[in-house]
Amino acid sequence: MILGLRGRCVGLALLSLAVGVSAAAADQGQNQKPYIVKDGKVDKNTYNGWRRYTESCMRCHGPDGSGSSYAPDLTQSLKTMSEDTFKSTVMGGRVNVGQANENVMPSFAEVEDVTMYLDDIYAYLKARSDGVIGRGRPQKLTAMNEGPHG
Ligand code: HEC
Repeated sequence: MILGLRGRCVGLALLSLAVGVSAAAADQGQNQKPYIVKDGKVDKNTYNGWRRYTESCMRCHGPDGSGSSYAPDLTQSLKTMSEDTFKSTVMGGRVNVGQANENVMPSFAEVEDVTMYLDDIYAYLKARSDGVIGRGRPQKLTAMNEGPHG
């Protein structure tokens, strides 16, 4: 009897610890932005994300992430899609079957220019999706992030 009670206490303590930890993690996820934007200018990772996007994704998803007749508007997608789902979609690709025209999102798992900079690409598209930067080549923050030649 005494043993049983003690067991339950330990269980409860562990449970509340776990809840506390995951709540903190969720908080952080919501508040933390993957980009820095000041006065419409972006940090170098976000800028690099624009470059990489333009190189590897634009031909299907259109300029600035805003979609084409072939592939979805990623500035819309990221309003609801999680970072994890975004990344696994890019790594794994996706085929939309059951449509008259089969639209294919290729897998980028083997493309280093994408896998190495997936955080940057996400940051850029998230900034676009949040509406904090407009279309076209973003301006870079210089002084703080890049030094005088940025
Ligand atoms: C060859 C054309 C093509 C290229 C290149 C391409 N995509 Fe896609 N992508 C698609 C198509 C088509 C879909 C829709 C697939 C579907 O409906 O299942 C898609 C879907 C996606 C989705 C899911 C969107 C949603 O709302 O569900 C994400 C995220 C995505 N692409 C990101 C990227 C990123 C990032 C790159 C560059 C690294 C990229 N794509 C390059 C064609 C492409």
